[in-house]
Amino acid sequence: MNPVKVGLLGLGTVGCGTVNVLARNGDEIARRAGRGIKVIAASARDISRERNCDISDIQLTTDPREVVNLPDVEIVVELIGGTEFTRELVLQAIENGKHVVTANKALIALHGNEIFEHAQRKGVMVAFEAAVAGGIPIIKAIREGLAGNTIQWLAGIINGTGNFILTEMRDKGRDFAEVLKEAQQLGYAEVDPTFDVEGIDAAHKLTILASIAFGIPLQFEKVYTEGISQVTQDDVSYAAELGYRIKHLGIARRANGGIELRVHPTLIPHRRLIANVDGVMNAVLVKGDAVGPTLYYGAGAGADPTASAVVADLVDVVRVMTSDPENRVPHLAFQPDAISDLSILPMEEVETAYYLRLQARDEPGVLAEVTSILGEHGISIEAVIQKEPEDGADVPVIMLTHKVIEQNMNQALARIEMLGGITDKVTRIRVESLK
Ligand code: NDP
Ligand code: HSE
Repeated sequence: MNPVKVGLLGLGTVGCGTVNVLARNGDEIARRAGRGIKVIAASARDISRERNCDISDIQLTTDPREVVNLPDVEIVVELIGGTEFTRELVLQAIENGKHVVTANKALIALHGNEIFEHAQRKGVMVAFEAAVAGGIPIIKAIREGLAGNTIQWLAGIINGTGNFILTEMRDKGRDFAEVLKEAQQLGYAEVDPTFDVEGIDAAHKLTILASIAFGIPLQFEKVYTEGISQVTQDDVSYAAELGYRIKHLGIARRANGGIELRVHPTLIPHRRLIANVDGVMNAVLVKGDAVGPTLYYGAGAGADPTASAVVADLVDVVRVMTSDPENRVPHLAFQPDAISDLSILPMEEVETAYYLRLQARDEPGVLAEVTSILGEHGISIEAVIQKEPEDGADVPVIMLTHKVIEQNMNQALARIEMLGGITDKVTRIRVESLK
C-alpha cells in the first residue's frame, strides 16, 4: 500500500524532530500503522537555512497555505505555533478534507471548540497529543485509558521550561534569567518565553486537560494563572526547611460549587513523587474514582520527546482514517452533544492552605497583630518560622496556614499589609497535600 502523505507546517524544533523520528523509526511505524508515513511537503519562513533534519526528499515552500492546499497531502501537521495564522491554516486544512495533527496548545485552548466543531462536520480528525506535557501520552491516557472513571481532580507539572528553571534555582542556586536563556537554547521555551514563566502555556494545557477530564468546553479565559517569576531563592529555601518543594502546578478539581481551574506555584510535601519531578520533566497526577491516583511522567519538551507524541498521533490518524467518523474517539473525550456546562469556580471561592512570607519590623507586638488579623478571618496557623534579623534589618516571618477560602485570605492580607510593622507586600504561595 502507498504511504500516507503528510504536509508539515514548520521545520523548527518539533518539525525537524518529527522528520527525524519518522526517518529513524519508519519501519516500526509502518508495522504499527499498517502503512508507511511520508512527509512530502513542508514549509518554513526561510527554506534556504540549514536544518537539523534531512529535508532533501521534501518539497519546500515558504507559504504554509501551499502545503494545506496540496491535493496529495492527506494529513497536515501544524508545528508553527501562534494562534491566528494557524487557526486560519488548520480551518482551511479541515475545509479541504484533510486530517490535522498539531502540537499547538495555544491554538487548541483558544480555538479548539470552533476547530473540533468544524472537523466533526467535515468528518476529519484533529489530534493534539503533543500539545500537553510533551512526550507523555496524557491525552490518550485520560481520554481512553481512564474512560471508565469519574475524574475527581488532576494536578500537573505541565511546563518543562518552568520546571527546569525552578530545579536549577533550587539545586544549583542559578539565576532565573540565565537558566531561562539555557531553556531557550535547548528548544524548550515558547517563542515568547513569558508564556512559560507567567504560566500562560501551563494554562493553555490545563484548559485542554480539564476539558477532556470533565467533559466541559475549552475555557482558557477562566483559568486563574500565576507564573514563577515572583518565586525567590529564599522561598525555595524556607519551603525546604518546612519539608516542602515549590512546583508550578496546573490544578483542575471538581469542587462543590463547580470546577477549580488554576495554575500557580505550589508548595508540595517533598515526599510526594511529583515533588521530585525535576528539570524539563513533566508529570501529571490524575485521580479517578475507580482507579484512584495515577501518575504519568516523562519529558515535557524538546525535539524528540515532542515528536514522539506527534508521530503517535499520525499513527492513530492513519489507523482510523478509513473508519466511520461517527465511531471514532471524540476529540474532547465526551460525545459532542454530551459536553456539560459545569461552571468554573471563581478563584475567591477556592479553598487551599497557604505559605506566607512577611517582612516584619523586629519589634514587640507585630506578630501578635498579624495572628490576630488571621484569626479574625478564620485562618488558623499550622507552623511559624521567624528568622534572625541581619544587622537591624526586618525579620522574615514564614507561616503555614490551614485551609481557608481565598477570599478570606485576600481580606486578611489586605489588612496585614496596612500594618506599620509590616514593611513589604506579603508573599503567598498556595499549599497542596495532593493526598
Ligand atoms: P520553532 O520556533 O522551533 O519552529 C517554528 C517553525 O515554524 C519554524 O520552522 C519557522 O520557520 C516556522 N514559522 C514560524 N512562523 C511562521 C510563519 N508566520 N509562516 C510560516 N512558517 C512559520 O517552534 P517549535 O518547534 O518549538 O514549536 C512548534 C509548536 O510546537 C508550537 O506550537 C509549540 O508551542 C509546540 N510545542 C513545542 C515544544 C517544544 O519542546 N519546543 C513541545 C510541545 C509543543 P523558520 O524555521 O524558517 O523560522
Ligand atoms: N514551552 C513548553 C514547555 C514546550 O516548556 O513546556 C512544551 O509544551
